[in-house]
Amino acid sequence: MYEACFNNNFTDALVFYLCILLLFLLSPCLFIWELINTLRSSFRCTENMSQKVVLITGASSGLGELMAYEYAKRGACLAIIATKKPESRLEQVADRARELGSPDVLVVFADVSKVEECRMFVDDTIRHFGRLDHLVTNAGIAPIYSVNIDVTKFAPVMASKAALISFYESLRFEVSPTISITILTLGFVQTNLITAKYSTNGFGVHLRENFGDIYPSMGAEPCAKAIVDGVCKGATSITEPRFIKSLFFIKSLFPELHRLIFNRYQSEDMQLLKKDR
Ligand SMILES: NC(=O)c1ccc[n+]([C@@H]2O[C@H](COP(=O)([O-])OP(=O)(O)OC[C@H]3O[C@@H](n4cnc5c(N)ncnc54)[C@H](OP(=O)(O)O)[C@@H]3O)[C@@H](O)[C@H]2O)c1
Ligand SMILES: *[C@@H]1O[C@H](CO)[C@@H](O)[C@H](O)[C@H]1NC(C)=O
Repeated sequence: MYEACFNNNFTDALVFYLCILLLFLLSPCLFIWELINTLRSSFRCTENMSQKVVLITGASSGLGELMAYEYAKRGACLAIIATKKPESRLEQVADRARELGSPDVLVVFADVSKVEECRMFVDDTIRHFGRLDHLVTNAGIAPIYSVNIDVTKFAPVMASKAALISFYESLRFEVSPTISITILTLGFVQTNLITAKYSTNGFGVHLRENFGDIYPSMGAEPCAKAIVDGVCKGATSITEPRFIKSLFFIKSLFPELHRLIFNRYQSEDMQLLKKDR
């Protein structure tokens, strides 16, 4: 029956456009719903982080480092993780976190891409503090290459980015309400990831220098503060900068419009790339 019905192009299209129309009619309600949710979240109680234990991966720079400071200001004990390398700033981050009010900071050098090392730092944290309250899985890489450069370079990130969202959405059903999960989706945030490392990653100096003019990006400090605020209020998802969320709506409802917006950025990117060569 189902098959017979949707093999008919006309019925198929009709259902599609009716759904779009319905969404259009419902959109004022959805708008108000979003607004109410935003207002409600600003009045929600904040978790008392004093003496709580927070493990942050990738805390030697960028958002991980700044989140460590946000938690430190709230009096949380920290376990901070990054890979072992001579120039690592992890120890300095620990010192600064102590200055800012963290009662105890454990530094562990480990590589999150190795399962046994992950097990080790979680065990170390629980052995040291006797508990673990927040696990911030922040460590990440963003090898942003053009497909033109070398497609094999994508391998280390395959199945991480978008797959993680689906993974945590499913995990949430299994572990709630004992454990709550906050899923973070970010636009561009001004850290090493999108600035300094660009030049070595295949994109050129021009793109790095002009990044801010092409892509609207957010300062790392306000971003880290917004994240920790949201997590401590039990948000299920956080998107920073906020306007990025509207792109998700546009992408699912009007994919063509989404494509047009990105084409605009794409062409500017490509011009800069050409200039570099
Ligand atoms: N900045 C943005 O615009 C943006 C946008 C979307 C998503 N994100 C995500 O936000 C997170 C933080 O990024 P960021 O912008 O703060 O970049 P970042 O400054 O490069 O920080 C990444 C951190 O992860 C650590 N790290 C990398 N690989 C690791 C590994 N295998 N094991 C352990 N630690 C590792 C790095 O430390 P070591 O190199 O010292 O190990 C560093 O502390 C990442 O997951 C990134 O994908 C950022
Ligand atoms: C937060 O927790 C700490 C330690 O558990 C406690 O001493 C403090 O009074 C609490 N603060 C508030 C505002 O409840």
